[in-house]
Amino acid sequence: MAAMRALPDDDPRSWKNQGKIHCAYCNASFTQEKSGYDTYNLQIHNNWLFFPFHRWYLYFYERILGSLIDDPTFALPYWNWDNPEGMALPEMFETSLPDPSNPAGRPNPRFNSLFDGYRNVLNLPPAILDFGRIGGSDQQAIIENNLFTMYNQMITGTSDNGFFGGQMAAGVANMNAAGSIEGGVHTSVHAWVGNPRMANSEDMGNFYSAGYDPVFYCHHSNVDRMWSLWKNEVNDGDNVDPDSPDWLDASYVFYDENKNLVRVYNRDCVDTASLGYKYADSPIPWTTYSPTAHAPESHIATDSIGTVDKVEDVKFPVKLDKTVKVLVKRPAINRTKQEKKKVKEMLVLNGIQFDGTTTFKFDVLVNDVDDGTDITAANSEFAGTFESLQHGIAGGMKMESGAVFGITELLEDLKSEDDEYVLVSLVPKGGSENVTVSEIKIELVPVKTKSKNKK
Ligand code: C2O
Repeated sequence: MAAMRALPDDDPRSWKNQGKIHCAYCNASFTQEKSGYDTYNLQIHNNWLFFPFHRWYLYFYERILGSLIDDPTFALPYWNWDNPEGMALPEMFETSLPDPSNPAGRPNPRFNSLFDGYRNVLNLPPAILDFGRIGGSDQQAIIENNLFTMYNQMITGTSDNGFFGGQMAAGVANMNAAGSIEGGVHTSVHAWVGNPRMANSEDMGNFYSAGYDPVFYCHHSNVDRMWSLWKNEVNDGDNVDPDSPDWLDASYVFYDENKNLVRVYNRDCVDTASLGYKYADSPIPWTTYSPTAHAPESHIATDSIGTVDKVEDVKFPVKLDKTVKVLVKRPAINRTKQEKKKVKEMLVLNGIQFDGTTTFKFDVLVNDVDDGTDITAANSEFAGTFESLQHGIAGGMKMESGAVFGITELLEDLKSEDDEYVLVSLVPKGGSENVTVSEIKIELVPVKTKSKNKK
């Protein structure tokens, strides 16, 4: 990092230009004009370009760093925030070092090339990450909630677009939806590291500035590792990447370590071995943190008919300035095991509209009996969370997204298989006063799996 920081700003490999790549692809800098849709933006967040774009971004960043120290084997470390051992900002980003021009002087973190002055001082080590915004002083409870959250975002109903996010393709305007990890722990870590005292939560707390903090690349290495784990480890290694040409042929341009501009394609990054790396094995403790039902067999949805509005009686868009409860009809009930394996029941939120210059979060619960217990990721009733990170400079930026949550296993856990409706609660967790949602529905979505492809 010191070598990269020493490059002149106008070198495409410089710390500054590398950081700017993120903003270039992110903050609605490009439209789909060349495809004839000039009012639609291109964006590598909140959709299925999230994983491949960031993989390529890291690929070149790593090669540039390796070439600057003449070590082609150099690999970016990953910040394993999915493991209790990694749930604080890694010390190396804040270590005090001596001033190179005055080695006898007092060490200071600002002489450390991994340091960034724009971080939340309250969240420096040993403060621990709190994905569920549990708060309080019970560290063990926070850590456990983090592990349940990981399980929720990596395993529960994350087949296909639940994990990858919605399509971004020419002429597709409103299919934007963040995948589970992207709209969850990924955003949590950004918001947690960024400095809330800065006007725009710089650096990590805002997409435009996140790439200036060296920890961004180690954070994203772990996000990238989640993609590998999702594909090769969880769900018996049965998950598969999107196979649509719109996804496979999507491309980006980057400068390589020799300052050449190169174009790269999603299809060429799906196998990390072909990019020259493999993640070192390390424990994934969250695989055993499956949730348990708080109130199984409550049939709360059926009991709420008449007291809670059905979707068709709600005036959309609804505002998330308070908890929103609504009954949503299921397309089918009591499906067979076989059917449920092939076709998943997904809860879909469309048209989540918000000011893109704000950060907010809300949780999505299914069949919560609302008896005063806080439902968290440790409960089967917890479908997932949607968290958005601010883009750009305060002043208003109309954005739209969506979210998809798998609820097949959730409804099994709750023994709600024969309920005609589900009771959906959207619970604001900060900053969502002006967020609106235009559609809530349940869809049956066929899943692709490796085993199915083999047949
Ligand atoms: Cu491009 Cu962590 O975001």
